[in-house]
Amino acid sequence: MLETDLNTSTMEFLPNNPEPAARLHLVVIDADAAIRSACAEIANSLGFRVQTIAEIAQARSILRGNAADIVLVNLPPTGNQGLELVSEVKLLYPATTLIAMTTSGSVNAAVEAMRCGASDYLTKPFAVDELSTVLERASENHTIDIHSRQLREQLRMSQGLGSMIGRSTEMEKLYRILSKVAQSTHPVLILGESGTGKELVAHTIHAFGPNAQKPFLPVDCGSIVPTLIESELFGYVKGAFTGATRSKDGLLVSAEGGTVFLDEIGELSLDLQAKLLRALQEKEIRPVGATHRVPIKARIVAATNRDLASMVEKGTFRKDLFYRLNVVNLRLPALRERREDIPLLAAHFLDRMSRDTGRKFNLSDEALRTMMLHDWPGNVRELENSIERACALSSGPVLHLGDLPTQLQNQGLEAWRAANAAPVEEAEAKAGIEVTPLVDIEKKAILSAIRTLNGDKLLAAKLLGIGKTTLYRKLKEYGIADPMQEE
Ligand SMILES: Nc1ncnc2c1ncn2[C@@H]1O[C@H](COP(=O)(O)OP(=O)(O)OP(=O)(O)O)[C@@H](O)[C@H]1O
Ligand SMILES: [Mg+2]
Repeated sequence: MLETDLNTSTMEFLPNNPEPAARLHLVVIDADAAIRSACAEIANSLGFRVQTIAEIAQARSILRGNAADIVLVNLPPTGNQGLELVSEVKLLYPATTLIAMTTSGSVNAAVEAMRCGASDYLTKPFAVDELSTVLERASENHTIDIHSRQLREQLRMSQGLGSMIGRSTEMEKLYRILSKVAQSTHPVLILGESGTGKELVAHTIHAFGPNAQKPFLPVDCGSIVPTLIESELFGYVKGAFTGATRSKDGLLVSAEGGTVFLDEIGELSLDLQAKLLRALQEKEIRPVGATHRVPIKARIVAATNRDLASMVEKGTFRKDLFYRLNVVNLRLPALRERREDIPLLAAHFLDRMSRDTGRKFNLSDEALRTMMLHDWPGNVRELENSIERACALSSGPVLHLGDLPTQLQNQGLEAWRAANAAPVEEAEAKAGIEVTPLVDIEKKAILSAIRTLNGDKLLAAKLLGIGKTTLYRKLKEYGIADPMQEE
């Protein structure tokens, strides 16, 4: 017996099975005791913590003080009480998921309920399956929403998402999609130039997903010969080829619900593309040399720096496989499209070098300025390598322009000349010498660092290699109250 029929009081049901949904608190509101009881029984078996309430007025007062995760409310055929409850709960607790129950024929009521904030509805009479589906869907969406909210919260506090650094608009956009994508198990296609972080993104999707504790298995389709890729992915049976002395599971099988990361998917041969497509469609594979098929349960994340769409046009990449992988695509921005992240990334790699070597490192102003101007064809990897190289070459804690790779130094010098052409020419004209007062260079360096970093004085001081008190003192000496405004 799940419920004693108490029309004016409420009942709580504890779940029998400790499923993940057990954490979710479901409130069922219906004047009909039989419906309350049936809903409670089904929701209970799905693992919800259930509370049933007979009257809307009572539900409103209870829900005012307590946030429920999901509310299943019957909309009586007359009066607006039900709709008012939906609107009020949505206003008080935007994170609560509301589901309306309506009597058959009252489509308008369902539409109205959705307009007031309900996310789903059930038309009475409904089958057990329908209720289960609606509740499971609500629970899944609710969990995804909670997760993305937590990730967004974490993001607000940090310099990026997980191990990914960057707070530019492009990266924020990417994190938003990524935090949602991570929750599902659909294939994901990651596109981006070399060194933009495709593998890191694949890792992050896995790490924030529901199967993070399962394996993450990368396969480099670009550097392994096709026959080896096939036996890697699909496995083989004993005697399938010379040297196959025993059977071996393929990665698609041994992932056991984890992620198989197909790197450089654009390099996959047409023959293997066909086999991969079949595996994705049928969710089973045939190991090399086998006659039987084996079920697979792996999430596929693929990446490429090639233009797959134009490969499809040329016939070198299968259109059907492209569409299947392209359910969600994440296009990673090139570093030159998010220059504002360069100081953050630089500080991150400098910190890492400091931790690894036990030496403290900072960037000189002109080194940072040069890095901000560089186009970074090798993207984040090129930045990472440049900093590692500069740390290895530098004799002191401050990394100067001369410690950076030559192509960066040249670009930096040109930029410096362009920026200083006017004062130099003026001085030359007046005195015939080529000198800019140090204090001007210093002032310019400090202001440009602060502006480049959108007013973040602490980070500017850090990257300039001076203390924050020194930075504040200098600004005071220059008579600059607001570095973002001052000429
Ligand atoms: N947003 C980021 N934050 C911190 N580190 C990053 C970021 N993006 C990339 N990196 C680092 O840059 C390097 C290159 O990244 P990754 O290997 O993921 O790039 P890729 O796109 O797969 O490159 P390729 O196409 O050459 O294989 C790695 O060391 C990675 O940790
Ligand atoms: Mg890569």
